[in-house]
Amino acid sequence: MSSTTAQNTALERYYRLHSRIYDGTRWSFLFGREEVLRRVLRVANPRRILEVGCGTGRNLVSLRRLFPEAHVTGVDLSEQMLAIAAGKADGQVTLLRRSYSLPVHAEGGPFDLVLFSYALSMFNPGWEQAIDAAWGDLEDGGVIAVVDFSHSRFSWFRRWMGVNHVRMENHLWPRLGQKFVPLLNDRFSAYGGLWSYGIFIGRKQL
Ligand SMILES: C[S@@+](CC[C@H](N)C(=O)[O-])C[C@H]1O[C@@H](n2cnc3c(N)ncnc32)[C@H](O)[C@@H]1O
Repeated sequence: MSSTTAQNTALERYYRLHSRIYDGTRWSFLFGREEVLRRVLRVANPRRILEVGCGTGRNLVSLRRLFPEAHVTGVDLSEQMLAIAAGKADGQVTLLRRSYSLPVHAEGGPFDLVLFSYALSMFNPGWEQAIDAAWGDLEDGGVIAVVDFSHSRFSWFRRWMGVNHVRMENHLWPRLGQKFVPLLNDRFSAYGGLWSYGIFIGRKQL
């Protein structure tokens, strides 16, 4: 079994259990999810949106409210998480079950916004390919928006997050900054410095 397949299998198993408590618990530590969308509003008015790792669909609902004209596609590898998202989705939302490592836009043309919300830090391996796939999925001038865990100075906490499939090594931001023209690239402190999370918004420029 390849390391990607093994990781995807582990994540599917993890979310089979966690999907049941996801919406009731994640508000207490997945910070910045409203903020990243507020920041997107300042720089874009997207019509074709992709959320990678859309999970239970919390952001899909927010995206539909903020951009009522837009069509929103959500991709996720977990059947259980997508089943909850499907219960929140309307006719302007398409859900795709797959592991994201290649662009998905082939059928409908490129997207003008790609969102990763607490997803990329779980693509281990595969986060570089996912960033490259997002580049391929965006039209020229399109916007990528990322909110995610960044780092913790406490090794026990990084280990604990590793048990939960999250890599917290400040590794996402340099590649995002190389690939896209940064419009926002900031870190924020959570729980008095227990960890930091980041928001990156960038533009694809050919
Ligand atoms: C922490 S949840 C975030 C869900 C949602 N974006 C949010 O902000 O609440 C991470 C999601 O990414 C999905 N995921 C992880 N690796 C993935 C991959 N390689 N391809 C597609 N989805 C993936 C998981 O199944 C999970 O639903």
